[in-house]
Amino acid sequence: MPKVLLCDDELMNRKVASKILKKEGFEVVEAENGLEALEVLENESVELILMDLMMPEMDGYEATSKIKTNPKTAHIPLIIISALSDREAITRGLKLGANEYISKPFDITEFILRVKNAVKMGELQNNKNEKDIIFILSKAAEYRDNETSMHTVRVGEMAAFIGQKMGLRHDEVELLRLSAPMHDMGKVGIEDAILLKPGKLTDEEFVKMKEHAQIGYNILSQKKTPLLSLAAQIALTHHEKYDGSGYPKGLSCDEIPISGAIVAVVDVFDALLSERPYKKAFSLEKTLSIIQEGSGNHFNPKIVDLMMQNIESIKKIRERLSDS
Ligand SMILES: [Fe+2]
Repeated sequence: MPKVLLCDDELMNRKVASKILKKEGFEVVEAENGLEALEVLENESVELILMDLMMPEMDGYEATSKIKTNPKTAHIPLIIISALSDREAITRGLKLGANEYISKPFDITEFILRVKNAVKMGELQNNKNEKDIIFILSKAAEYRDNETSMHTVRVGEMAAFIGQKMGLRHDEVELLRLSAPMHDMGKVGIEDAILLKPGKLTDEEFVKMKEHAQIGYNILSQKKTPLLSLAAQIALTHHEKYDGSGYPKGLSCDEIPISGAIVAVVDVFDALLSERPYKKAFSLEKTLSIIQEGSGNHFNPKIVDLMMQNIESIKKIRERLSDS
């Protein structure tokens, strides 16, 4: 439920607007002046701010200016609600960073539409910001690793393809596409001598290498957004094996989240087909026979079957996103 901060010194105005907003499914927090609004924003996150201009203690201009110059709150859409005759005031508010204005007295239908549009715009902008950050994080992880840059992108695309074939909802598929490339994020915490070692790892080194699953989870679970939560889940579970012999937790069968189970298959599939410092690229035939051998022990058999049935489409994804 989106939360709206309603800042107005007139109790009646707040009552009216609050009633309309609640009827439309919004949660409402009220503030009597700019100072109170800033206090609310210190402790709560809101999706929209409705700001009156003339108020005691701190007026709407000062509050707007403070909100829009604070990096913590600048992204929150802010609508000024002011009297129609007050053109100059509105311009001044917009100059301070307000996104919109609504004239008082307002038409209820228009008010609701403008509020909803502003919340939607804010959501879109924040999603875009999050995607940008995630893209950058994935890039950072690649630099630490000897993976080619397209490997993680292919893992995302192939995971989304399999997810769609498994009947996941469209939004789930899109989250998978964006979060799967971060499965090895935890490698940023693994030392070079192990991460970049050209030969086989010793048992001791392998124990350290395995930590990348938990480290990735620790990094990505710092914030709980749908995208980061899924990315954290994938980072933690992409080395679990269907028969329970994987790591870090030794989960088996349906205990392994489907996201991690899908990435487990497509990650290995794409890595086998690629050249690495310690190995040549395998042929498709050999790769598929390894994947099939792993069905039911390493890999979830349902996912392996889907991969086999759709191998032509998956090959096309690989060709479309080749390293060269
Ligand atoms: Fe990994």
